[in-house]
Amino acid sequence: MFGRRAKSGGSQTPPKPESRFAERPESTSRGNDSYLGRRELVPQQEPEEQVPEPKTMKQVFAPPPPPTKAAPTKKNATYYQNKEVIFQALVDTIDMARLSQMDIDVAKRELRAVLSDIIAVKNILLSIAEQEELLNDISSDIFGYGPLDSLLARDDIADIMVNGSNRTYIEVNGHVELTDIQFRDDAQLTAICQRIVSQVGRRVDESSPICDARLADGSRVNVILPPLAIDGPALTIRKFKKDKLTLDQLLRFGSVSQETAEILQIIGRVRCNVLISGGTGSGKTTLLNCLTQYIEHTERIITCEDAAELQLQQPHVVRLETRPPNLEGEGQVTMRDLVRNCLRMRPERIIVGEVRGTEALDLLQAMNTGHDGSMGTLHANSPREAIQRLESMVTMGGYGLPIKTIREMIASSIDVIIQAARMRDGSRRVTHVTEVLGMEGDVMTTQDVVIYEITGEDENGRLIGQHRGTGVLRPKFRERASYYGIDTELADALERLERKHGIGLSEED
Ligand SMILES: Nc1ncnc2c1ncn2[C@@H]1O[C@H](COP(=O)(O)OP(=O)(O)OP(=O)(O)O)[C@@H](O)[C@H]1O
Ligand SMILES: [Mg+2]
Repeated sequence: MFGRRAKSGGSQTPPKPESRFAERPESTSRGNDSYLGRRELVPQQEPEEQVPEPKTMKQVFAPPPPPTKAAPTKKNATYYQNKEVIFQALVDTIDMARLSQMDIDVAKRELRAVLSDIIAVKNILLSIAEQEELLNDISSDIFGYGPLDSLLARDDIADIMVNGSNRTYIEVNGHVELTDIQFRDDAQLTAICQRIVSQVGRRVDESSPICDARLADGSRVNVILPPLAIDGPALTIRKFKKDKLTLDQLLRFGSVSQETAEILQIIGRVRCNVLISGGTGSGKTTLLNCLTQYIEHTERIITCEDAAELQLQQPHVVRLETRPPNLEGEGQVTMRDLVRNCLRMRPERIIVGEVRGTEALDLLQAMNTGHDGSMGTLHANSPREAIQRLESMVTMGGYGLPIKTIREMIASSIDVIIQAARMRDGSRRVTHVTEVLGMEGDVMTTQDVVIYEITGEDENGRLIGQHRGTGVLRPKFRERASYYGIDTELADALERLERKHGIGLSEED
């Protein structure tokens, strides 16, 4: 154990990325022979792992303090001092390179044993809890993602946004908060970015400073380094939620009303072609995932995504993922390639994670040629803007199609647009369920079936509002509902919505 030199030729494997999520080993018994060896490694200095206090809206949106490294608190200063001393002793004692070659669990046990001994030999006074924290901290510097580990372990965080070494924000419950997390310097942050992207066989450095990657747990990562990022490396992580939100949960959160949820279920079931539109992080993928839950288990579904986020429950699913070019700029597989290939795979439904380019034309064609019930998301701030974006994506394809033809194509392909929004109080809501009716001359006609109306704000700044019916009791997709034998359910949901909160008919009005 403590100080034992690693045996050569043993079954040693490099640390695996997923090891970050493995349970930390129990503290180990100490040995007393020799150390693992020596090598040079700069001691790393991390802030204390701590859960940031929830901040008020005022604090969240207060102007940021100047971008200087915050002075550590008294407790932090001692903590850093201790950590520095221990890390220095550790570097003088063991061969870190050798350690990183070992099986991750064995290496962690060895490391903890050595660290415990250093603490004892140096006579550093620490409570058991402090010692445990320090051991975990140093261990995560060496084997994990350093200061990020504490954030990655939390399931309540939607996004982690690192803007240089001393400014890390998180999004929790729809609110963006500044955390106390700090990296030692930009070099440490760059090394962590490099470690993350190298796990998916990519490289990020000055010569190729932009990179998309995925963590072992499925979280989506984007890195952009200086000189493109002017104030230091910028790392953005969309945390992968192990348990995706369901329509029931969205109902509890008030993102949809009971009737809207029922209408969405029916839209998912009766094979409407659906576009989910919304701004960044407005909950588009979550909604798409919810809708797919109502697809029959007998249908063959093919999903195309940039990073596999959807979690379909059906048995007959083929999941496809795009691939960025390799370091030589070759081997790229685009969303368009995937959607086109999909068509040769006998799909019944095609689900496109995010439509952002020329694949729009292929998706529309698929929707038009017997793949009803296909779905996709798109960045736009309103259903009308979603249609305009689709138009421009098809135009960008360079087929020279007249705008009227493109519009006709959209009108005959898309049945429903569901608009998601992240509101100013941090909540996410479905704000429109809009159906595409067809063309009148050169103009595409749409009608809202459900809209969300804000009526006020409570004393905590939370928006008050409700989903309202627009008087449309016979939407076009009612024909589909009747084909699938659930016409009365749809009529019932629409009538209830209208009775409760119909525009102009509301009981409260
Ligand atoms: N209705 C909701 N209520 C609360 N949280 C939600 C809701 N919808 C989504 N979220 C959370 O918000 C985060 C972003 O959601 P999601 O990935 O679905 O957004 P998106 O619009 O697809 O984002 P992007 O534009 O980056 O693809 C996730 O952590 C998700 O769990
Ligand atoms: Mg998304």
